[in-house]
Amino acid sequence: MTRAVKLLRWYRRHGRDLPWRRTRNPYRILVSEIMLQQTQVDRVKKYYRSWLKQFPTWKKLAAASNAEVIRAWAGLGYNRRALALRDMARHVTKNGVPKTETEWKSIKGIGPYTAAAVSAFAQKKRTMPIDTNIRRVLGRILLAKPYSDLKDDDRIAKEAESFLPHRGHFYEVPQAIFDLATMICTKKPECMRCPLRRDCPVAERFLSGRVRIPKRSTPKSKERHHRDKRYPDRIYRGRILKLVREQDEVSLSNIGPLIDKTFDKTHDQAWVEYMIKRLCQDNLLQKTKTRLTLPL
Ligand code: ADE
Repeated sequence: MTRAVKLLRWYRRHGRDLPWRRTRNPYRILVSEIMLQQTQVDRVKKYYRSWLKQFPTWKKLAAASNAEVIRAWAGLGYNRRALALRDMARHVTKNGVPKTETEWKSIKGIGPYTAAAVSAFAQKKRTMPIDTNIRRVLGRILLAKPYSDLKDDDRIAKEAESFLPHRGHFYEVPQAIFDLATMICTKKPECMRCPLRRDCPVAERFLSGRVRIPKRSTPKSKERHHRDKRYPDRIYRGRILKLVREQDEVSLSNIGPLIDKTFDKTHDQAWVEYMIKRLCQDNLLQKTKTRLTLPL
């Protein structure tokens, strides 16, 4: 039995029933993939359906205003993705649905992972999307590395050739790897339960405790951070945007204490203004002399 066959047997018994696995529609698949970038599966599940109810097609999304998509994205975080997704819909409405991975990649905001994912999941293409989950699993099986990083992607993509079946199941194999990655082949893997234990060159090392589990598998992100504040700026920018979404208009002079209990005007005013400037540059907010609103 090939490795892919063993994996698929396991997936048929243990795979998750996720809403975006019930469609092969490129629009719906792209929506799920953009939402799944940097947001957990459980959270995406809650928002995926309501987004599709509001924006069921490329065309409906392409016609949406900034304010509409920013509101519909509320709760998912990394809000720029909402505008980027709408702009992708505008591109597709104008130029047609891409047919190849290269065409997908030519759209702003779509990188190698997303292009491969839509090609494999919506267009039956034989390609392996490599995200952090797939990198971890295939890095172990194909490169014998307990922990791989971005630099290993080219080798993983090349070796994935021998892992993917030659015909069919181009959808199921990567989906099964996502599930193996979250259920078994985690940072501290449970190799005893793994269907690929006998094919995995690092399983024995993990089972006998000979692998040192790193504290962090990816380097800590270099997010901007006010030196006295508890969270990265992204969290406070999210709070500013939430206020404006909920109140439609927010007076500039009141914002500081509303987003941060420890706000101190002398020390923190410039910090708040800088975050507002960033939000305006990203087209997530609009500013007049005294007030903030959502952009049209
Ligand atoms: N992460 C990225 N894409 C995914 C998918 N389709 N299913 C589960 N996790 C994912």
